[in-house]
Amino acid sequence: MVLREQLLENNKRQTCMDEKTIVRAGYDAIAAKYLKTRSEDSEDVQLLQELVQRLPKGAKVLDAGCGAGVPVTRYLIKFFDVTGVDFAEEQIRLARQLVPGAHFLCQDITQLTLADNFFDAICSYYAIIHIPRQEHKELLLNFQRMLKPPGLALLCLGADDLEKDIHVYHGTRMYWSHYDTETNLNLVKECGFAIIWSKVVADSTSPGASHLFVLAQKDCA
Ligand SMILES: C[S@@+](CC[C@H](N)C(=O)[O-])C[C@H]1O[C@@H](n2cnc3c(N)ncnc32)[C@H](O)[C@@H]1O
Repeated sequence: MVLREQLLENNKRQTCMDEKTIVRAGYDAIAAKYLKTRSEDSEDVQLLQELVQRLPKGAKVLDAGCGAGVPVTRYLIKFFDVTGVDFAEEQIRLARQLVPGAHFLCQDITQLTLADNFFDAICSYYAIIHIPRQEHKELLLNFQRMLKPPGLALLCLGADDLEKDIHVYHGTRMYWSHYDTETNLNLVKECGFAIIWSKVVADSTSPGASHLFVLAQKDCA
């Protein structure tokens, strides 16, 4: 790589790190506040029934960007063997207290090196929308790699085009980045998934906001 390309690559990496630092520090600061906004019976939580209906009891499920583990990990642990991953230490500390039956890792979900064909399902609620969108393809390909065929992915992605947004959220700086619905659906397919359904769901924690939820299956063709 020539020097100019190397410098550009380094700059890109540094920017992503700064954005991730904003998200990690932000959720460390607002973990308890955010938890209070989460409801156990909102439409997004009801969608988890789709995994219960399709997977055997005890199936291995990854909750990527699990936050404090409530309500999603706590719902999943009633049926499955669940691993929750989040890079905000305070979120993981709360999750270990609130969902003692699950395994938790404090790690960036874009850096997961767990085995190929390991999970029966991967669920990710409201985390991918905080990751620079140029990393979404690699992240989805890595999810696909870790899924045991014909594993399921239940993903919350962006519904609208948003290259980058930083604003104050629950009193802290926060960062978002995502593609629109059509681009996301194409991306999921390009990454080796067949889409079972997709729907735009209103965010019960942020009036006026909505996100794309997708249930997809590792494409074995
Ligand atoms: C809006 S919260 C949602 C938490 C939980 N999934 C829920 O539904 O309540 C987003 C979570 O994703 C985590 N997150 C964002 N980007 C991440 C990354 N690259 N690696 C690991 N966790 C990440 C944040 O730390 C935060 O806890």
